[in-house]
Amino acid sequence: MSVHLNHKQERVISLTEHFLKNELYYDNTGHDWWHISRVTNIAKKIAIIENADVFICIIASLLHDIADEKISGDEEIGLYRVEHWLKKNEVLNGDIAHILEIISTMSYKGGTNKCTMSTLEGKIVQDADRLDAIGAIGISRVMCYSAVKQRPIHHPELTPRTVITLDDYRNSGTAIMHFYEKLLKLKDLMNTDYAKQLAAGRHEVLEKYLEQFLYEWDGIK
Ligand code: ADP
Ligand code: NI
Repeated sequence: MSVHLNHKQERVISLTEHFLKNELYYDNTGHDWWHISRVTNIAKKIAIIENADVFICIIASLLHDIADEKISGDEEIGLYRVEHWLKKNEVLNGDIAHILEIISTMSYKGGTNKCTMSTLEGKIVQDADRLDAIGAIGISRVMCYSAVKQRPIHHPELTPRTVITLDDYRNSGTAIMHFYEKLLKLKDLMNTDYAKQLAAGRHEVLEKYLEQFLYEWDGIK
């Protein structure tokens, strides 16, 4: 298995990494540079296994959170910034269109976005991003994000057994609720075989953690 990247592509990747490191240096919402770096590394690995376009997977991973309203304030502005960056760096028009399409469709949007990715590269970047939301790192990120949003760790009346509406949840969400809202669902949403394998192990970590958490909450174990 080999990666076919030309000199120009390698240069764009390195400039984009630099751009992202600066951009996300002060992020404390779980979208920091290291999230981008982990997603990019896994996407590259899956791209090689799947014989996909490695350049597209790397650049889309590096830029995937720029269009997130949490970072650019507005999705449209974020997408425009991505387009501007890629044009400035003379990425091919076809590649720009592909990268923009991936970034604009992949966001999970709190579970309301059921969009399936239309290209293999899109499926790969989506898998890589979702993998970073589960397992030990996923647990760290949900706690970090909840702290930023001033959400409590847990509330005994807001358990998975409590039927709540999405609005109730938005108003009173807890870190533990987010496991049931999103994290535990991600395993079955993976597109590629490699991501499915990794997700199975990371999902077990979530389940073990929750089990122990609820035991400790009740003072049982
Ligand atoms: P990404 O853009 O990396 O797919 P999100 O922007 O959806 O992820 O969320 C970033 C991190 O914050 C994730 O790890 C996610 O689990 C966590 N997070 C997102 N929404 C919530 C929430 N409502 N409550 C707690 N944690 C959340
Ligand atoms: Ni992300």
